[in-house]
Amino acid sequence: MSSKTRSSGVAVTGTAPGALPLLGHAVALLRDPLRFIASLPAHGDLVSVRFGPLRAVVVCDPELAHQVITNEKVFDKTGPLWRRAREVEGEGLITTVRAEHRRQRRMVQPAFHRARMPHYAEIMNEVLAEETASWEHGQVLPVSAFTLRFTSETTARVMFTEASDPEAVAGIRVALPDLVRGVFRRMLSPTAVNRLPLPANRAFVRARQQLQDSIERLITGYRSTDEKRDDMMAVLLAAQDVENGVADAPDDEEMAAMVTGLFLAGTETTSASASWAMYLIAEHPEVQERLRLEIETVLGDRAPTYEDLIHLPYTRAVVTETLRLYPPAWVLARGTTSRTTLGGQTIPSGTNVVYSAYLVQRLAKVYPEPDSFRPERWLNASSGCPGSFLVFGEGARKCAGDTFALTQLMVVVAGLLRRWELRTVPGPRKRPRARAVLHPRHVKLQLVSRGAV
Ligand code: HEM
Repeated sequence: MSSKTRSSGVAVTGTAPGALPLLGHAVALLRDPLRFIASLPAHGDLVSVRFGPLRAVVVCDPELAHQVITNEKVFDKTGPLWRRAREVEGEGLITTVRAEHRRQRRMVQPAFHRARMPHYAEIMNEVLAEETASWEHGQVLPVSAFTLRFTSETTARVMFTEASDPEAVAGIRVALPDLVRGVFRRMLSPTAVNRLPLPANRAFVRARQQLQDSIERLITGYRSTDEKRDDMMAVLLAAQDVENGVADAPDDEEMAAMVTGLFLAGTETTSASASWAMYLIAEHPEVQERLRLEIETVLGDRAPTYEDLIHLPYTRAVVTETLRLYPPAWVLARGTTSRTTLGGQTIPSGTNVVYSAYLVQRLAKVYPEPDSFRPERWLNASSGCPGSFLVFGEGARKCAGDTFALTQLMVVVAGLLRRWELRTVPGPRKRPRARAVLHPRHVKLQLVSRGAV
């Protein structure tokens, strides 16, 4: 890739400085991944980086990132990152390459139809009420543990009617945390290390097996009953991919991979966003007060229904601004399947192309004062330039659960704030932890009951 220059003097393509012999930029990336990725736009719109033997081009311009993710024929889920993801997670909807993707996507789509959201919102409210029932005025809450329980439990209940097989549903509940924790570690470790009989590897393999066994057992149970159930599993089982007039239903193995993929895609991402939202709200009392007013005016003392959410524009703006500042899927990659051009540059076949929602969503040219938490920027906002909001991706591989996730986040924010005030506890500001998902580290918040003050 040759280097060009813009009128501003900034290279359109460049190389990130500070590469070490052999390691390349791996040290800078591991030391402070967010600082490293945010430093790259200064070196061009397409910036070459190297992590050990792995070379990649990082796309630093929103419109170019948009071109990459909306052209899945050329920029597919190939390359080392996705190979590892398939090894660790299996061939689910997220990890599969384009040729297999359309079929699976058509089967999953009906489960996320807008018409199903009111029912899902009821379940979210139910789980929230149970989770908060034991909360006490003045208590300090470990936030991430709460949000992960909330999102895992919601997904489990939305997916399977508990009464269908309580033991198998319990198996999913137990397996999920170990599985979620293990995915990132295994993606970064060599395959040989993942095969060693270490406690963490054993826990992961056990959890994966338990999740798979529980899901397969549930699927068998669902297939063998005529009882009508109003859950996601029933919708998935009814789904058939009809192409050229031929119906093609998923077998049990494929169905289990799809369901596992949904759990992995949906629980940790939404949990991290809910933790960030609670933390940012606690940190900004003026935002919290405006939220409280909106929620009280619209809901009174009711829990939010799905239909209410459209009448809560400030709550939505708070959630959107949280996702802008801390996109859970902060960095993703593609591999080129043929030689192509991007931003006027020739990109050879087999190039690793990286894009980052964190990077584009912190560009001052797109979002003035990019590091400030300003929910108002989303009130009456136009949709912005292509590629400027990449939280859920774009194009054919856009997140299938985006409406579900937004509903979950709005339900948790509105549902909590009508009863509780969130306060930060003394200590340094929480820094993000950039793993597979962008988390806040060990957030604790104090709960102040609105009834008690
Ligand atoms: C705040 C929460 C969430 C965020 C930030 C998020 C983000 C994303 C992103 C960026 C992608 C695209 C990946 C890529 O292009 O390589 C994606 C895909 C996907 N997400 Fe989400 N997601 C969230 C919640 C959920 C939930 C709750 C579910 C389901 C229960 C879900 C299911 C999926 C699926 C199935 C895909 C694969 C879509 C495809 O390739 O066709 N996500 N998500």
